[in-house]
Amino acid sequence: MSIRVPSVSSGRINQIAPSGIRRFFDLVASMEGVISLGVGEPDFATPWHIREAAIYSVEKGYTMYTSNLGMPELRRELSRYLKDSYDLDYDPDSELLITVGVSEGVDLATRAILDPGDEVIMPDPCYVSYNSCVILAGGTPIMVPTNQKSNFELSAADIEARVTDKTKAIIIGYPANPTGAVMSRDKLAQIAEVARRHRLVVISDEIYASLVYGVKHTCFATLPQMKESTILLGGFSKAYAMTGWRIGYATASKEVIAAMFKIHQYTIMCAPTMGQVAAIEALKSGEESVTEMIEDYNRRRLVMVKGLNKIGLPCFEPKGAFYAFPSIKGTGLTSEEFAEKLLLQEKVAVVPGSAFGKGGEGYVRCCYATSLAEIEEALSRMGRFVAKHAK
Ligand SMILES: Cc1ncc(COP(=O)(O)O)c(C=O)c1O
Repeated sequence: MSIRVPSVSSGRINQIAPSGIRRFFDLVASMEGVISLGVGEPDFATPWHIREAAIYSVEKGYTMYTSNLGMPELRRELSRYLKDSYDLDYDPDSELLITVGVSEGVDLATRAILDPGDEVIMPDPCYVSYNSCVILAGGTPIMVPTNQKSNFELSAADIEARVTDKTKAIIIGYPANPTGAVMSRDKLAQIAEVARRHRLVVISDEIYASLVYGVKHTCFATLPQMKESTILLGGFSKAYAMTGWRIGYATASKEVIAAMFKIHQYTIMCAPTMGQVAAIEALKSGEESVTEMIEDYNRRRLVMVKGLNKIGLPCFEPKGAFYAFPSIKGTGLTSEEFAEKLLLQEKVAVVPGSAFGKGGEGYVRCCYATSLAEIEEALSRMGRFVAKHAK
């Protein structure tokens, strides 16, 4: 007699693939002597004064849940930070929510606003979670190809061409992962114009806002009439080297924050208490450490981009985040083949561009948040590899 076994995973789960980045790094973890330009996280430990604040709080026994919205002091500090940085007013009690990183912010934002079948427009390539979170929320991702020729900027006309009566939102993330692209205020204003005309919500992931080199970051919510329709996501992982503390935030209209909060209170309860204490210290006195790290990243960025171009991997100049995104098309390999062969033959880990969407094919992501010595050694190994595979 045959027994019918129910399918263990939902239809939505079956539509999404495991992250291409993680799969690749399981392979890296099993090898020795690898130089990793792979994982997108700072090589710095969190600045000591931030760690110390969290250690003291634990010593004092501050180990309980916080308010579901996040510690009032942290929300007030963030509200002040957004006012000082962008002249934006967010009420810390109703328009601001502390999340478990921007990762939770993307999940909450998509689940809070989407109904089944709603379409969400986003750039391709883009950060790995945008597409999957939209699918998990029952929506349909609509990808807009971007390319090296236009510095991986998202064009307002390309968005406009994809708007239908099902379009609910646009997700953007500048400075961008994986490309390092930033967008000028003018170009973002063109996107805002499309959003306004079609009454679209804009989810703006600005986790790399502080990591820009020689240009000014534009916060999307500062564009005319955009504050009410923007869900701004920010976090501490990258700028303050705090990936493991798991703290981010979302700001939006009262109505949207209330909707996101409903999901957050049942699924997360509150972001980690120690992390929130650390985030308060980061906001109060982390500025100097951030500036030092940015200067360091900038030195590495210049070496990385110049080096990649020199070894025959054309790379546009990324003005933000800590990624270079060179073209590997000249080798005739796919980006997965390139990354896998480079790892096995030269022990350098990069991430295949295809992990970030079809538009990433033909590129690899090189994270330069690693020491200059390692970057130089990695470039020399990659140069040898490219010479061997040049067509
Ligand atoms: C663009 C982007 N958004 C969000 C995240 C997730 O960050 P968090 O650590 O705040 O969850 C990352 C992490 O790599 C990222 O690159």
